[in-house]
Amino acid sequence: MKHIGIIFILSALLLAGCTGKTAVTSPDGRTNIRFSLTESGEPQYSVTKDGKAVIDPSRLGMVFEGNEFTSGLKIKSVERDSKDEIWQQVWGEESFARNHYREMAVTLTNSEEQQLIIRFRAFNDGVAFRYETCPLQGKDNVSQEFVLTDELTEYRFVSNPETWSLPWDTPFYEGLWEKSLLSRKKDTLCSPLTLEFEDGTYGFLHEANLTDYAAQNFYIKQDATLGTYLTPWSNGVKVYGEYGKTVSPWRFLILADNITELAASRIMLNLNEPCKIEDTSWIKPMKFIGIWWAIHLDHYTWCYRLLDEKGRFIALSPNHGATTENMCRYIDFAAEHGFGGVLAEGWNEGWDGDWTSNLAEFSKPTPDFDMEYLSKYAQEKGVQIIGHHETGGNVTHYEEQMEDAFHYYDVHGIHNVKTGYVHSKLEGKEWHKSQYGVRHMRKVIETAAREHVCIDNHECVMPTGLQRTYPNLMSGEGVRGQEWDAWSTDGGSPAQHLCVLPFTRVMAGPVDFTPGTFDFSNPIHPQTRVHSTLARQLALFVVIYSPLQMASDLPESYMQHPEAFRFIEDVPCDWQRSVVLDAKIGEYVLTARQDKNSSDWYVGAITNEEEREVNIDLSFLDKGKTYTAEIYRDTENTEWQNNPYDIAIETRQVRAGDVLRLTLNAAGGAAVRLTE
Ligand code: NOJ
Repeated sequence: MKHIGIIFILSALLLAGCTGKTAVTSPDGRTNIRFSLTESGEPQYSVTKDGKAVIDPSRLGMVFEGNEFTSGLKIKSVERDSKDEIWQQVWGEESFARNHYREMAVTLTNSEEQQLIIRFRAFNDGVAFRYETCPLQGKDNVSQEFVLTDELTEYRFVSNPETWSLPWDTPFYEGLWEKSLLSRKKDTLCSPLTLEFEDGTYGFLHEANLTDYAAQNFYIKQDATLGTYLTPWSNGVKVYGEYGKTVSPWRFLILADNITELAASRIMLNLNEPCKIEDTSWIKPMKFIGIWWAIHLDHYTWCYRLLDEKGRFIALSPNHGATTENMCRYIDFAAEHGFGGVLAEGWNEGWDGDWTSNLAEFSKPTPDFDMEYLSKYAQEKGVQIIGHHETGGNVTHYEEQMEDAFHYYDVHGIHNVKTGYVHSKLEGKEWHKSQYGVRHMRKVIETAAREHVCIDNHECVMPTGLQRTYPNLMSGEGVRGQEWDAWSTDGGSPAQHLCVLPFTRVMAGPVDFTPGTFDFSNPIHPQTRVHSTLARQLALFVVIYSPLQMASDLPESYMQHPEAFRFIEDVPCDWQRSVVLDAKIGEYVLTARQDKNSSDWYVGAITNEEEREVNIDLSFLDKGKTYTAEIYRDTENTEWQNNPYDIAIETRQVRAGDVLRLTLNAAGGAAVRLTE
């Protein structure tokens, strides 16, 4: 066997050496990625699907300071591998994922005896590659450290797809995704990009396993050709690395025949390393409520003390939110209605005055927040307190306290923490998604894992599937979430936004969007509101995936609509299977998911500003069984601006193959629970 392997490698090498090109094809033979060297020894690759070109020959290469490695290269060897494995997810959109690919690792060398491996993988639903540095040869006493000044990866799309994107410097990715032909994009763009090709197929271009490297962005070189722009450090360096150790994140492109396949692709997770946490029994998906929305509505304050502009004490805040009394009330409500946790924001010292420049104390509650009492109270009620670390971007200050802060939470039975970095730059100078930020966020996940704490990372780096390796990284923001509908001066996000997110931001990982608003009036910011009907808020618990799923509104708002609230009480947030039944990006989304712990199915359907009729094909149900469908839908009279709370709740008996025909009003939706 071994001999056959060696012969195979040698012949691959001879072939590649002779022709300067080599290729790898997906297990189903449809997707192909080809590597070649130009006459001047510049590496490039191209991609085809079903024999049709998708990416024309495009540049590859890394520019090391004082040591370019971009031309005059030769193929030293080509090694091949393949894998077909099924692995179990600790939590996820389905219980198991299949990792099925063929691989080709091309080792390149220059006359200086420097080497670089480019590893390619061809999956049935897309392609991926990454750069792997090698130790400098014959230079034992020489430092292996390097500075990367650029990455030359290019994407020459053959066609000119419709593309959803955000400008690369959108603060915290909290923007509305913009659609236009790729060639019409003006800005440098964030990764990921979602593509809709002319023939109705889809693409998703992103990176996986971003570890100790800078996040990628894309710039338009010409027409539909993208170049890579790595997020720089404040001194302009892109990446500090070590030859032999540093590997780039995977650059991957999903190529899906239709929208259902796009959403079902698990390439990103598969390109991350298997779980590094041995005992994962403490990692538990859950729904939670919190002392949070009321703060965004200005009913409560984060701060305990009011200070003047010069930082002098004026008075205690008359409506500090995170008090022992309020927490007990929320914990009681959570226990009564089956929520796993209660988030407490503004529970610690450091929020008074300008909290983005103040230095928070992460193990010191304010005097009106009795942590000892509350942790016991929550435990007795079977509810977890969800902690909060708002750093204001002060990373060094946070890192000094981090270990103790997680330990403090662990001691108090707190195993979930929302982290935050509200500042345009970390330490006032580094981009969140620079190597500096990436390193920090990784340190947080690893430290939290040691202390048995799960993370909901706000102002995060765009996720890249690290949750496969560290499933304590459960959710993140990086989205224009529902909180914008409490205070944004543009009046709130258009209904279309949520019909885009499942195929853009959510493709990159679970998102803490905070659905479940039940009161759309907002006396403090009357120009702003949630663009939604009540039924649509329920649908979001199925459409938008997060294993830590917040129900955003206040207990008193939920008690205004107890029948509708039943759906939020019932809906799980960990799934056995998930299927996008039908969707058109930006127009409507129909998603079905099966509960991880029962045979129940849930369906969420939402639409943009247009009213529409949708057909929900129930073929996914078990054949031969009858299910009770509890349907929560808009009525003839529901109208998101003037009559949003009107909801019809009805029950029907259905079987596999039946079709539910429902009307979704403008900015409306429907949610369905299907039980055997
Ligand atoms: C912004 C986060 O998105 C929000 O959820 C949080 O309440 C504030 N920062 C304060 O940390």
